[in-house]
Amino acid sequence: MKNKIFVFDTTLRDGEQSPGAKLNTSQKVELARQLEKLGVDIIEAGFPISSPGDFESIVAVSKIVRNCTVCGLTRAIKEDIECAAKALKYAQSPRIHTGIGVSDVHIKYKFKSNRKDILERAIEAVRYAKKFVSDVEFYAEDAGRADNKFLSEMIMKVITAGATVVNIPDTTGYCFPEEFGQKIKYITKNVPNIDKAIISVHCHNDLGVATANTLFGVFNGARQVEVTMNGIGERAGNTSLEEVIMALYTRRDYLSYTTRIKTGEIYKTSQMVSQIMGIPVQPNKAIIGANAFSHSSGIHQDGVLKRRENYEIIDPRAVGLTSSKIILTARSGRAALRHKLEKIGFDLTQDKLNSVYKEFLKLADIKKEIYDEDLYYLMGQKDETNHKKIKLVLIQTISGNKNIPTSTVRLSVDGKNKEATGTGDGPIDASFNAIDTCLGQNHKLTQFLIQAATIGSNAMAKVYVGVQNGKKESFGSGIHTDTIVAAAMAYIDAVNKIH
Ligand code: KIV
Ligand code: ZN
Repeated sequence: MKNKIFVFDTTLRDGEQSPGAKLNTSQKVELARQLEKLGVDIIEAGFPISSPGDFESIVAVSKIVRNCTVCGLTRAIKEDIECAAKALKYAQSPRIHTGIGVSDVHIKYKFKSNRKDILERAIEAVRYAKKFVSDVEFYAEDAGRADNKFLSEMIMKVITAGATVVNIPDTTGYCFPEEFGQKIKYITKNVPNIDKAIISVHCHNDLGVATANTLFGVFNGARQVEVTMNGIGERAGNTSLEEVIMALYTRRDYLSYTTRIKTGEIYKTSQMVSQIMGIPVQPNKAIIGANAFSHSSGIHQDGVLKRRENYEIIDPRAVGLTSSKIILTARSGRAALRHKLEKIGFDLTQDKLNSVYKEFLKLADIKKEIYDEDLYYLMGQKDETNHKKIKLVLIQTISGNKNIPTSTVRLSVDGKNKEATGTGDGPIDASFNAIDTCLGQNHKLTQFLIQAATIGSNAMAKVYVGVQNGKKESFGSGIHTDTIVAAAMAYIDAVNKIH
């Protein structure tokens, strides 16, 4: 038990303080259910006195959560504490989290007070909260910038008053890891009754070191970590739950801490938080970002395909993903292309792979990412275009609101190049007319459909057309990053089928 780390999740309180992240009661309940499933020990569900809506949410969360402690935040004010006690009435295991600023900056400019008065208010708040619940956590706000001697005196006194957990927040994200670790160590050495409480760390990410600070807190004696899913929270956010948990998990060869977290629920929880709160996860975010298990360069792809561990320290299945991702880009090599093609059912000889790879690189230079649909296109295109009677060699169009849409096409018909220009209602109509002029034939368009075949603004457009010549009708399709080229390809495909 000495190395058991309690996970205090404050996604629904500090996380909800992210701009735009406001949650209603049913959203808080839905997320609380998932946090319980994830295995957090404490859910800080809100700040009950802040609004009637938040009060209701804490009541609702208290009613449904059964396997973890539900906590409500208060200031060191009697009304806040009474309100929290009421909101937590239905909780199986309620906790009141009360506290006050402890740095001289806060004491002087926020409270316009002095150390002695602040100390008394802290003690009084804990004593009062103790009248309602046995589990009282005290936070020493802005402990990161506070004088360690005064901080330790306060911690000692609030533990005497009944605090069972003492939270040492780096409220402004000011400390460096070594420094923050030393602060926790100082408390363990200078607070005589520290064995009567659990030390908690609550770090903000203003300098991007919240996870490191939290870990250094743990290495120096903290046994509770205050975290949020996806690292959301005030300003630059709080410590990310997923980073701390996966650091402890991944380096269990070196560390020996345990938590109750079911790591396989991490990805799902992250997605739920992101969607419900409307806060996207940055692609390169550790553990849960879209690129966290993606490999894009040829050397890395080849290495990962030989053995995942070559470039991955975490098995993606550990966080609830099914596999790593091989992203095909212009930097990818043949090994990755072969792997992707095999996954979608194409088994290629080395020669064929070499020729597809050339086409692949041309397409990858136009598009940022090559998707499976693009690969189908590459494979289909290679097989078909070689034995077509009419082939598109070149197409150039002019369009816009001040021009007559005009298109010039060059076709190869039975191996001979022919060129013609046409005009029309738009660039596609002009292209179809140019093709007809080039062939010396008239075709009636019977069907026309455009679809985005892949994702993104550089998506491949897929065009389907139906054409009629006398009694004969046929259908064709074309795919290209340029919609007009795709339309011309579809038209030529259908015309080829007629003749
Ligand atoms: O950052 C902070 O100090 C807090 C406290 C209210 C715990 O969020
Ligand atoms: Zn905070």
